[in-house]
Amino acid sequence: MLKKVTLWIVVVVMLAGVLVAQERGGAAGRAGRRDVGRSRQGMQPGQDRSGFMRGGIQTWLTDLEEAYKQNNREKMGTLIAEMKQRFGRMTAGGGRPGSGGSPGGFGRPAGGTRPGQGRADQSFFKNPQMAKDETEKKILAVLDDLDKNQRRGMMNVPVLDGRLLRLLTETVGAKHVVEIGTSNGYSGTWLALALRKTGGKLTTHEIDATRASLARENFKRAGVEKLITLVEGDAHETVKKIKDPIDVLFLDADKEGYIDYLNKLLPLVRPGGLIVGHNINPRMADPKYIEAITTNPDLESLLLHGQVSVTLKKR
Ligand SMILES: C[S@@+](CC[C@H](N)C(=O)[O-])C[C@H]1O[C@@H](n2cnc3c(N)ncnc32)[C@H](O)[C@@H]1O
Repeated sequence: MLKKVTLWIVVVVMLAGVLVAQERGGAAGRAGRRDVGRSRQGMQPGQDRSGFMRGGIQTWLTDLEEAYKQNNREKMGTLIAEMKQRFGRMTAGGGRPGSGGSPGGFGRPAGGTRPGQGRADQSFFKNPQMAKDETEKKILAVLDDLDKNQRRGMMNVPVLDGRLLRLLTETVGAKHVVEIGTSNGYSGTWLALALRKTGGKLTTHEIDATRASLARENFKRAGVEKLITLVEGDAHETVKKIKDPIDVLFLDADKEGYIDYLNKLLPLVRPGGLIVGHNINPRMADPKYIEAITTNPDLESLLLHGQVSVTLKKR
């Protein structure tokens, strides 16, 4: 396993090197053309907006090096998957302006780049979590501990997706969130962070007894257990018992089951409510689910960073 990971690192680092070199060469070639635009926009000749791209790769390389030193395979795996995804988007779209390549990734955005239109990836926007009060501080500390020490085998959402879930849930003022796929309660704890402010509740479903029991422990540690009902069993069956309206439905279990969860629960999602799907990528998502959320005139769907679908049930 370690050999395989090391091999991947070598391949991926080489790829990253090629990308940087290509971009440097391309940037030099484009420099003359760009300087015309620069002088119109008050930029200095030689000022390079493609620094966002190199900054992204360099940050990624530093993170990878750190994960390697710590022998943190989970983190290495995540970083490699991220690079594969970004590299895939570049090659698929050619990375050329207007080619549709790498929205939000290292390449140029779809629709073309003019000077001043550079798009940043997350490395441009590193911002730590800042607790507003002691309770939030305690919950964030538990989340941080789960992120660092309990990810193995738990298939948890990345930190950013946890933050997104919290943000969406708090924004819609959710009173009832339904989650399919509790695991050890990591995403559920992010949802609870919002629900303690909206006065809402989470009903979360898990088929695996060991993970369900870990989740119960983690909810207690975070002090959010009163906000959460954990339903153990096959969610395809257990969701049939849900009767209350749903403000946010979060799907993060068996991917081929998303369409069944959607069919069963969409009638309960209130107009103005959200359905969030995780792992919505070509490798994992069920085309039937994508079809259902993108061709229904009652729904408005967006795909965020090639991984999370956010669907609004229109009012
Ligand atoms: C990707 S993990 C969920 C991760 C979790 N949302 C988080 O971010 O912390 C998927 C979970 O769904 C559970 N699962 C799979 N099929 C299920 C089913 N039919 N009913 C309930 N849970 C299921 C798995 O046991 C697993 O724990």
